[in-house]
Amino acid sequence: MKIAVVYDTDTYEQKKNMVTAVKNALLKKYDAYELAFDENFMSEIKKYDMVFNLSSSGGRESRQMHVPAVLDIMGIPHTGPGSYTHALCLNKTVTKIILRQHGIPTPPEIKQQDIFVHRWEEGTGFIVKPEREGSAKGISDKSVVYDAQSMKKQVEYINNTFKQPALIEQFIPGRELSIGIVGNAETMEVLPILEIDFSGLPEEIEHFYSHRVKEEYSHLTSYKCPAPLDQKTEKDIKNYAAKVFNILELKDYCRMDVRLNEKNESFFIDINSMPLLMPDYSDIIKMAKAGGMEYDDLILKITQSALSRK
Ligand SMILES: Nc1ncnc2c1ncn2[C@@H]1O[C@H](COP(=O)(O)OP(=O)(O)OP(=O)(O)O)[C@@H](O)[C@H]1O
Ligand SMILES: [Mg+2]
Repeated sequence: MKIAVVYDTDTYEQKKNMVTAVKNALLKKYDAYELAFDENFMSEIKKYDMVFNLSSSGGRESRQMHVPAVLDIMGIPHTGPGSYTHALCLNKTVTKIILRQHGIPTPPEIKQQDIFVHRWEEGTGFIVKPEREGSAKGISDKSVVYDAQSMKKQVEYINNTFKQPALIEQFIPGRELSIGIVGNAETMEVLPILEIDFSGLPEEIEHFYSHRVKEEYSHLTSYKCPAPLDQKTEKDIKNYAAKVFNILELKDYCRMDVRLNEKNESFFIDINSMPLLMPDYSDIIKMAKAGGMEYDDLILKITQSALSRK
């Protein structure tokens, strides 16, 4: 079986290493090659039986939707969900509407046009985020607001910088968890839950995953996997996560960001339909390891899961 590991032409160094690491893992069992998603893709891809999809920045706006859409037309199996699911997950507001409809807890949000009519509850903060970005883009210490004027300013910043609506979501103070899933409907495995611990950060730095905390302060954040949780909380979160996986028709692997308030109530804030698979770095790699799966095992399991799908 010939597998193409498909990547974007703008892939930077660290991501390039991920492409090679995935290919090397696949070589243990298959014929694997790296293939760029460029103007020759439609003809080149015909030489392969399957795609391990790592393309997440193709095009100007729809990002990870392109490769699965092309492969769907060509009838070539691939890892990860179809473009329909990627589209749903790319828009956080849409995702939240669907989750809420299915009884999955997600923080309440307010609409941009309701900033000045919203009745503020004492001490409640909101986080203002771009509706359709990732990698904590546009998320800083200024994103969390406690009054209408600051909220308006932050919404305008998001609208102007990212040319898209802002999602204004209730800020959940508390613990940050990440949930990873590998497999499909029958083989689905929720990996040990990862906790991201921000307590080592200086006091003046925001204690959540802002862009600078991700990029510049990672040495001061620490990880606990499995996260210390009481049995009920862990079971509830894992059940919710499995439900989300099915509702959104996620496939093979995914990562979900969850906040836990002081009452141990969980809130789903972000569903990543194609999380990065950077060796030793990405959260899902840490979770797999805690579950006894080395990097190569995880890549092969994702591939097996995709191949087993009709
Ligand atoms: N409602 C919220 N309450 C508390 N913290 C939040 C909330 N929304 C976002 N955050 C914080 O901001 C971080 C980034 O938010 P989010 O996951 O929505 O953005 P993203 O850009 O999609 O992230 P990723 O890097 O996972 O792609 C979260 O990991 C969390 O630390
Ligand atoms: Mg996130």
